[in-house]
Amino acid sequence: MQFETWTKPLAELPIDCVAVGVHDDGELTPEAKILDLRCREKLSRLLKRGDFGGKPGETWLLTDLEGLRSERVLLVGLGSKGTSPKDGLGRKAWRRATVSAISAATRTRVTSLALALPRPAQKVLSDERFGRAVAELSGNTLYRVNDLKSGKKPRPHALARVVVTATAKSSQAIQRGFTQGSALAAGTALMRNLANLPGNVCTPTYLGRTAEGLAKAHKSLKVKVLGLPEIKREKMGCLLAVTQGSEEPPRFIVIEHRHPKAKNAPVVLVGKGITFDTGGISLKDPPLMDEMKFDMSGAACVIGTMNAVAELNLPLNVVGLVAACENMPDGRAVKPGDIVTSAQGLTVEILNTDAEGRLILCDALNYAKRFKPDVVIDMATLTGAIVVALGTHHTGVFSNNDALARELVDCGVAADDRAWHMPLTEEYGEQLKSNFADMANVAGRDGGSITAAAFLGKFTKDLHWAHMDIAGTAYQGGAGKGSTGRPSALLLEYLLRRAATR
Ligand code: BES
Ligand code: MN
Ligand code: ZN
Repeated sequence: MQFETWTKPLAELPIDCVAVGVHDDGELTPEAKILDLRCREKLSRLLKRGDFGGKPGETWLLTDLEGLRSERVLLVGLGSKGTSPKDGLGRKAWRRATVSAISAATRTRVTSLALALPRPAQKVLSDERFGRAVAELSGNTLYRVNDLKSGKKPRPHALARVVVTATAKSSQAIQRGFTQGSALAAGTALMRNLANLPGNVCTPTYLGRTAEGLAKAHKSLKVKVLGLPEIKREKMGCLLAVTQGSEEPPRFIVIEHRHPKAKNAPVVLVGKGITFDTGGISLKDPPLMDEMKFDMSGAACVIGTMNAVAELNLPLNVVGLVAACENMPDGRAVKPGDIVTSAQGLTVEILNTDAEGRLILCDALNYAKRFKPDVVIDMATLTGAIVVALGTHHTGVFSNNDALARELVDCGVAADDRAWHMPLTEEYGEQLKSNFADMANVAGRDGGSITAAAFLGKFTKDLHWAHMDIAGTAYQGGAGKGSTGRPSALLLEYLLRRAATR
């Protein structure tokens, strides 16, 4: 997809289709008025008939209006003007309108689309973030699920070019945003594709190969994939305990992005890569168990984000770590009550084999220490409890550093990929006491997402560390079942900010 800015008068833009906004009271936006005048007020006359309500998400395609360079005009409903119309469209309404416009265009043979919708105010969405969001939303809207259906594929859309109207002053920042947004969209699509694949295709081996593929495509990346013998050599006893019931060999993936100008200690991203979570001997109930193919969403996010970082060649050092294996019941599987030794040396009594994410992550977090990182952030579909606490709208952020948690929450707001700061005080860690080992891997039902984070906290004492529980946000169930690509946008926002400030 190609993205461009147009700084000349709208009516002079040679394009297949122009999208302009209309409010639910029938009022045309300034851009729509320009077109209306050109076609001798045909737009207002058509609107007067009342066929188009201007509701959010509604679109109406008009063709062959005389006097315009564009063959088509797409009216996009904006809803009400809101309480302070001079502040422009709210960000949410703008995103909705933009997605509707792109989506409507893909249902036609339009190859080039101009977005001439009103924009949120600068302070709400800067030029750079505006450009990024346009490319990001295009990518997300054009994304088609990588299904394995055998029938004829639906005809692909024709859209190849998106143009936004801009001023000469804003053009450069918007274009910078386009580059960021395109990299983000590609990374997010990679994440979604990986997460959507079934467990029998997307195995730990498959994740390892995918990571190796990234290193071939990007000069800045170095990838190392550890197999079972190397994982044993690393004494990752907790990861080994989870994988021991599976026929699929585990992988521990290290992706390093080095930039010659970056002198700072790296950011290490860690992803949970359970390619299928049956629960193990503490077997899950059958309903929704299929969704546990998404239990590698954290890993997929790390791989997708590393791809974006490399594509933008961010002036940072970033390391991505993925611990990948299956959690299966088997004659050789780990049993409730078994005690294993983590790579760090702490012993863990595994009371519930379904609390496997924290086990593979604790060994990965320990591995992160060798990079002497500035910050470590892990992403994991860790607990059902976070879904109970926050639903599907906010990712849960836990950290041993309040400033870091606040920064991530802030990035989530800026990127429209929201997160919420959850508590993480000592009491929760104390609930993990075991009579037989340094700690147990579970602590009862109450505050389940927090005790899970507290477990990880025992392995990150000397790090600046944050944990994002994405069990509620990384994928959707139901009719629109599939990976959402979250929290790639939040994470890239965080990395872009770091790249801009150091
Ligand atoms: N992968 C699950 C968490 C999960 C649940 C993700 C629902 C997405 C939707 C994780 O491994 C798990 O099973 N957690 C247990 C922990 C419990 C045994 C303490 C849970 O949440 O039930
Ligand atoms: Mn589990
Ligand atoms: Zn799991």
